[in-house]
This record gives sequence, C-alpha cells and structure tokens, in this order.
Amino acid sequence: MAKSIVDFTVQKISDLLIEEAVFLYGVRDKVKQLRTELRRMESYLQDADRKQDEDESLRNWISEIREAAYDSDDVIEAYALKGASRRMNMTSSLYSIKRCILIIKRLIEIHQVGSQVDEISSRITSLTRCLETFGIKSERGEASNSLHGRQKALRRSYSHVIEEDIIGVEDDVKILESCLINPVHVCEPVHSPPSTEPEKRVRLTSNSASPNTNQGYKVVAIWGMGGLGKTTLAKKVYHSTKVRHNFESLAWAYISQHCQARDVWEGILLKLTSPCKELREELVTMRDEEVAKMLYEVQVEKKCLVVLDDIWSVGTWNNLSPAFPTGRSLSVVGSKILLTTRNIDVALYMDPTCYLHELRCLDEDDSWELFQKKAFPKHNDYADSRVSTEMEKLGREMVGRCGGLPLAIIVLGGLLASKPTVYEWDTVRQNINSYLRKAKGKEQLLGVPEVLSFSYYELPYQLKPCFLHLAHFPENLEIQTKKLIRIWVAEGIISLVQNEGEGEEALEDVAQRYLTELVERCMIQVVEKSSTGRIRTVQMHNLMRDLCVSKAYQENFLEMINSWNVDETNRTSQARPIGCPNLYKLHIEGPIVNFPQPNQISSKLAKLKLQGCGFVVDPMTTLEKLPNLRLLELQLDSFLGKEMVCSNKGFPQLRSLVVSDLSNLEEWKLEKGAMACLRKLEISNCTKLDVVPEGLRFVTSLKDLEIRSMFAAFKIKLEKGGDEHYKVQHVPSLVFHYCDY
Ligand SMILES: Nc1ncnc2c1ncn2[C@@H]1O[C@H](COP(=O)(O)OP(=O)(O)O)[C@@H](O)[C@H]1O
Ligand SMILES: [Mg+2]
Repeated sequence: MAKSIVDFTVQKISDLLIEEAVFLYGVRDKVKQLRTELRRMESYLQDADRKQDEDESLRNWISEIREAAYDSDDVIEAYALKGASRRMNMTSSLYSIKRCILIIKRLIEIHQVGSQVDEISSRITSLTRCLETFGIKSERGEASNSLHGRQKALRRSYSHVIEEDIIGVEDDVKILESCLINPVHVCEPVHSPPSTEPEKRVRLTSNSASPNTNQGYKVVAIWGMGGLGKTTLAKKVYHSTKVRHNFESLAWAYISQHCQARDVWEGILLKLTSPCKELREELVTMRDEEVAKMLYEVQVEKKCLVVLDDIWSVGTWNNLSPAFPTGRSLSVVGSKILLTTRNIDVALYMDPTCYLHELRCLDEDDSWELFQKKAFPKHNDYADSRVSTEMEKLGREMVGRCGGLPLAIIVLGGLLASKPTVYEWDTVRQNINSYLRKAKGKEQLLGVPEVLSFSYYELPYQLKPCFLHLAHFPENLEIQTKKLIRIWVAEGIISLVQNEGEGEEALEDVAQRYLTELVERCMIQVVEKSSTGRIRTVQMHNLMRDLCVSKAYQENFLEMINSWNVDETNRTSQARPIGCPNLYKLHIEGPIVNFPQPNQISSKLAKLKLQGCGFVVDPMTTLEKLPNLRLLELQLDSFLGKEMVCSNKGFPQLRSLVVSDLSNLEEWKLEKGAMACLRKLEISNCTKLDVVPEGLRFVTSLKDLEIRSMFAAFKIKLEKGGDEHYKVQHVPSLVFHYCDY
C-alpha cells in the first residue's frame, strides 16, 4: 500500500513538473529533489510492504512513509493550485506598490514552501535509511509481484469515466442549448417526436405562455423523477462549449433540502465574480440582504447562467428568490436560470413562462446500451466474450424491469458486473423476482428504490459497513477518498483479508479495493480524478443516500446527530469516543473534561497534538503508556498543573516532543529510562519552569534541543559553562531562540 501511495505521488509530482512548470517557479529544483528521494524510497517499498506483517516497528515506519507521501502530495499540489490565482493577481495589479507587496508575499511563500519541501525530503531520506537498517532491499525494476499487479488492475479500473457513458441525451442537449442560446421561439424539438411514439425520451412541454422578452426564456427547467438523469443532462448542457460561449459567467449550485440561502448565494456569487481575496473577506462580513442585492445586480449587469440543481419546493425558492431577477424584473442582458426539479410546480411558480423540459425514461435500446456499459466495463478483458445470447436474454429481461430509469439501470449493471457466469445472472434474476414478490406482493416493475435496496441486499458482507458508513456524510457532499480510506481504516471498519499464498493485505489496500468496488457497483459515483487516474472525490446520489441512511438506522449503525439541532453541550456529550482501534494521528484542540484512560486510546496512536485541552491531572501518566506514540505536542495550557512526571520506561517510542505554553508548569521530572528513543525536544514559553529535568542527562538519544521564548536566566544556566549544562552536554545541537529577557 505504501508503495502504491508513493507511486501515485511520484507520478503526480512528475505530472506537475511538466504541466504546472510555471506555477512551480521558485521551488522546482526542490520539488525535483523530493521526487528523486521518493523514487529512491519507492525501490525499497516492495520488499517493505511484503515484510511489514512480520515486524510491528516496520509497520510503524511504513505508516510514516505513507504520511510523508501524503504530505508531499498536499504541499506541492496546494502550491501549484495557488499558482494560477497568483498569476492572475500579478498581472491584474497595475499599481506598482501593490505589485511589490505581491512580489514580497510571493518570495515569503516560496521560502515557506521551499522549507516544507526540504523538510519532507529530509524526512524521506532518513526514512529510506531506516528501511535499510531493517534489512529491506531495493528492488528497482524487478518484476512486479502479485500485490503490485493488483494495484495496476485497480488503476486500470479507474479509467471507467462516467461522462463517456451518457446515453440518449443528444436531442435533449440540443433543445436545451437552443433554449439557452437563442432568443424567442426557436427552441423547437430537434427531432419532433411523433405522437405515436409515447416511449420516446424527448418530450417538449413547451409552456402555453410565451417568453416575455426578446431574450427568450429566462428560466429553463428540466423536470422528472429522481434518478432519471436531470443532473447528468444539466451538467452536459452546462459544460457545452456553445453554452459557455454564450454567457459571460456561469455558476452551478446544488440546492439541498436543508440549504441555507446565504450559503447558496455566496457560492454562486463567488463563481460568477471570482473576487479577489479582499472582496471575499468583505463578503463574509456583509448582511444577507447585501449579499442578495449584490448577486441580483451581477445578473442584471452581466450575462450569467446559473444552474440550480434539484430544487425541491416552492418554499426553498421563496428563500432564494431575493437574489434572482425573475418575473417582471428580467434582465436585459439575457441572464438565465437552468433548474432541475422533481416538482413541476416549483418551475411554474418560479416563472409561469418558463421552458419546461420533461425528461423521459430511456427506451429499450438505450437502456440495454447503458446497462452493457456498466455490466461489461471496458477494462474487463473478457468483456466481449461474456455477452452470450443467454446472458443477453437474461440481461434484457432484468433491464426491462428497470422501466428505463438510468439510475436503476446502472446499479443493476454494476451489480452484475461482478458476476461472470450465466448461472450467477440467472440466480440474480430469480432473486429479483422473489425480492419483488416479497416487497410488493406480486411481480412488477423494479422502481429505483427497489433496485437500490436490492443492490444493498446483494452487497458482499464485508462491503456493507463501508457503504453504511457513508451515511455519516451530509447530502451531496463530495467526499475525498484519501480521507475516507483513512477514516474507514481508523474506525476499524475494514478487517484484514487473508489472501491465499500472499499473506495479509494492508488495510489501506483493502479499503481502496472496497471503495473501487462500490464505485463499480455504481453505489457511489466518481466526481473527480487526478491526472494519474486516482479517484479523488466521490459522491452519492441522494436516493442512494436515503437508502443508506435508512439501512444504517435499521442496522443500528448510525446514531445520526442533526448538527443544526444540537447545541454545543450536547454536541460534545454525543461526540464519538476517540477510541478508534486503528487511530494513528490525533489532533485535539479545545477543552476536554476527562482525560481518557490508556485503554480507551488506540494503541496504534503515533502522533498526538494537544492544544488548549486544560487537563488538571498530569496527562503524562497516561500518554507514557502508549506503546507506539512517536510524536507528542503538548501546547497552549493543555496541562494546567504545576508538576509533570515521566516515569522509567515511559514513552518507549517517542521521537519528538514539544512542550509549549504551559503557563503553570514549575517542575518536570523525568525518571531515568523514560523516553529512551527521544531525538528532538522543544521547550517553549513555559516561563515558570526554572530548569530542564535532571533525567534529561540519561536521554542519550537526544540530538536536537530547542529552547524558545524562555527567560534569559534559563538560557544562561543551560548554556556551556552554566550550572545546568551537564544535563544536556551530550546533545549535539542546542539552540536558543528569543531567550534574552
Ligand atoms: N442518460 C444517461 N446515460 C448514462 N447514465 C445516466 C444517464 N442519466 C443518468 N445517468 C446516471 O444515473 C445516475 C443518476 O442520474 P442523475 O442525473 O443524478 O439523476 P437525477 O438528477 O434525475 O436524480 C447518475 O449516476 C448518472 O451517471
Ligand atoms: Mg439530481
């Protein structure tokens, strides 16, 4: 797993070096150096991945490597992304003073990013050295083992791009394009559907009222039931070049059932105007009415297209409407709204003269085509050979039951994609029939809810907790897969899988595979991929989420807290315990009443940062028992007592410790044998602490001691020649900052 992450990072950095060369200005050489270090490390990881099961400490090193790779990814990408906006700011600022300030800011930024990249590079270099000391061999260029092979297979399956698979919307797109682009009365159906073809997908419900300006329809509405493809169609239109050329600014907003008007307005305003940082900051301080007015005016002055996706009720529109020029106050510049809704009344209420586009179900051929794309994805080498006549017969029968609903069809296709034999297809067909009989009392069409619920019922048991866990995320949220995988692993949702002849597979590998399987089963959708094909973010259709939440309740998997209705006290009391069995890194900011017992904290915890926690009892007595804690930062009055004690054999793995801003701390005792591996210690702004602990002289592993913002007396005692120097004379690097008062 670590290898695959480093692999991805190396690839990503290489892509950025080529594509974003301009934006990496100033740090390019450092980034190249980082890539070299990552490549060197990569050559060791194959062997390390294999051997990690045999050795707990090696597993910890590998976790650190994974962290370092993630950090590299984050730092460089953030810098390159900032590049574009930075360049715009530079070119747009005509005034020389502003330009100078920007240049200075830029130099500081280059310096900061440069130092971050340096720091990660040297972390990676020393991690690579550590791997060597574990007897791990470099395997550059060796034939890939089966684990690596599986990673490649995973990556291949990522190439399944949803946009390529859109079926049967060409006519709809043309009609909607023409409605949005052309002035009055020109949005005739491209192919007028003959009245004898009721199943034809395109149906124009051209409203009896005609548009009331020479700018054509002001509001264009796509209307139809959930899962029919309204959002998909609207996206296609929104991204069409013709449409984009016709408007000066465009914005897309998803309107959730519980949306806050202010958030929607701000989101749209930001997209329509791309304001500078100062304006953004100003926006936050503005009153709601001012934001609404500003958005209204932008649409009156500039030709804008705003998409309101999935607007449910007239009430929601009433809340949003002050920011939109509809009805009599139509803008002369030709701004328009494209909306999708399940409720025809909303569209007619918004604008009785709107253009209504009723989306129909797919016909039999399109349904079958869509189904095939999901059931036999291109990356399956045996795809073509699989579609036997028998399978087609079974497939068509099952697809027929989906009644032309795209969401039902893709989920059914995704479900059957994992079943290669005719026998399995027949079993699914029979299961669907008996499922329908149970659910509805007699055989009939599968609606979306039935297919979705059937697809859950068919999920392999180990994937169910992952699916149910998604109920924690709010409606329509784009979920970052990197984080999701970490959460699944940390919360112990993923269990180890024993593979024949291959030993145990890393938990992150398993999590990644499960995520891919949920995508392939169309239970979640990919929103964004990286240039290397890694799935960056996923999303769940709201009908699927409804199912997910209801199953999660049924299975007692979820105690959902509605954050809008919970006050602060309740929120803390209902918060999850931190005892996730695989928790690796934890940062707590803010007060905690009771410090947990050692057995309530994951024994795997490696990094802990505490800020402002306000413990009254010495936290060291608990923390020193954590067997894998490697980095600890105790900051900002996280401990309010006067005395802190670390006992013999405490903190067996601790490498780095920061003790900072503990304003009451007077004495710190360190027994001989505590912190036997400590390499780096920082003591900062603990002004009541007179001396470093006596026991520090036994910490022979200590390489760096940094003293910051302490009184001059403290420094004088500790310096060479001072009374306390004997405690730290073995430390190669002793540095003081701001200790002169
Ligand atoms: N015409 C289509 N071709 C292929 N897939 C489609 C089509 N319409 C919808 N889908 C798929 O069905 C799912 C649900 O579609 P969506 O547009 O979200 O429906 P709605 O907005 O009407 O609820 C999406 O994942 C999408 O990929
Ligand atoms: Mg939708």
